[in-house]
Amino acid sequence: MEDAFIISGGKPLKGEVSLSGAKNVALKAVVAALLFEGRVTLKNIPRIRDIFELLHLIQTLGGKAEFVDSNTVLIDSSDLKGNKLDFLYASKIRVSFMLFAPLLYRFKKASIPNPGGCRIGARPIDRIVKGMEDLGIEVSYNSETGYYLARLKNKPAGTYRFEKPSHTGTELMILLSVFCKDTITINNCALEPEIDDLISFLNSGGADIKRVGMDIVINGVDKLVQKEPYQIVSDRNEAVTYAVLAIVTKGDITLGAIPEDYMKTFNDTLIKIGAGVEKRKENHWRYFYKGALCAHDILTDVHPGFMTDWQPNFAVMMTQAEGTSIIHERVFENRFSYVEELVKVGAQIEFTYPEIKSPSSFYMFNWDSEKIYNQAIKIYGPQELHNGVLTIADLRAGATLAIAALSAHGESVINGASILERGYENFESKITNLGGEIKKV
Ligand code: EPU
Repeated sequence: MEDAFIISGGKPLKGEVSLSGAKNVALKAVVAALLFEGRVTLKNIPRIRDIFELLHLIQTLGGKAEFVDSNTVLIDSSDLKGNKLDFLYASKIRVSFMLFAPLLYRFKKASIPNPGGCRIGARPIDRIVKGMEDLGIEVSYNSETGYYLARLKNKPAGTYRFEKPSHTGTELMILLSVFCKDTITINNCALEPEIDDLISFLNSGGADIKRVGMDIVINGVDKLVQKEPYQIVSDRNEAVTYAVLAIVTKGDITLGAIPEDYMKTFNDTLIKIGAGVEKRKENHWRYFYKGALCAHDILTDVHPGFMTDWQPNFAVMMTQAEGTSIIHERVFENRFSYVEELVKVGAQIEFTYPEIKSPSSFYMFNWDSEKIYNQAIKIYGPQELHNGVLTIADLRAGATLAIAALSAHGESVINGASILERGYENFESKITNLGGEIKKV
């Protein structure tokens, strides 16, 4: 079966985009809903492949998890009966590991395979396993079967300090702590706003969770019950993709709604490079091309810094900017799969190796001094991009290659469309509505 987009580029994309719900909240909220008693309704859930994989995984365990209208999901854990995840389905999505929380509360033990997700580096879960152990959960790994087995003997208790922050790790620690004995404090937590949306959802059902800077304090409660449907926030990563599309295709796109603080760092950066950004009513944002762009260096960081998820999209914009830009990736190893592909269509990009005094504390991943890392690229702009046949290796790289093809004249083939569809809802129809020519084959 074909799994590609055929794109005819070179036209300015113009119009309005209604943003979908945030993938990185939706996935966690669906898992969190399994901690509630009875039925839970979540609104603004994107119809993307990762969500369908997760809903299917929950159904294989006997849980109810399904779309009841276009973007509303109903979840009911009352009939959950399995506590061992299917290897094939669980290994497809990274958040499968978070199912430890509801399964341990229900069955006291659970087996989950090593998690999957986008191949953007080794992505170990050492910090998460250590956190579980510090809360009193026994965890063992069987390298022959590829499964982790966890046991919960008593209510979780204690404190845990992340040596380096982890986004999903912070969220799993929160889910494991909701019904804890007394109080659990988690120190040095990740600061991504998607975590705060998850906290709001849990608190709306009766949880007692507070963020105090980089610490999160959870007072144990006995149960969670939903009072009214919860609507998750819009996807800031999707917003960035359409903003870049507007600028790179010399177009004009208004999108929303999304809170100002979610977009602030990105918008400030766009202003620095000479792109058009305008706030419209009710947290809608207009992005437009208003003249030559200037080169800009990026160092990816945790929130409120420049997100790692944005750098691949930003790189294609810098191929069109005057001067040399450096993009330095600090959060993940191996998040430059798009470089080779962009070079095929005319970008001038090379790896560069900035000197870092203490790489093991500077980088967010576990630095291994024996390994050679490609963590920074130098982009020479402006370069006119042309059409080509490209292959997607991970989600954000997928959007990057689509942006490149939509900005270049001629017909391009982008293989691996289903990888992009893991995280972008209705990509084809949203692009078509903006005047772009794209067809899935
Ligand atoms: N890390 C470890 N050990 C751990 C946990 C993390 O070494 O136990 C490393 C990771 O390999 C990475 C760094 O620490 O190098 C940060 O990882 P983190 O755990 O914060 O990231 P994540 O939870 O795996 C989530 C999003 C990513 C997003 C990052 C940063 C989900 C499902 N994924 O990943 O989203 O880039 O946080 O905000 O929420 C995407 O949407 O395309 C995507 C990759």
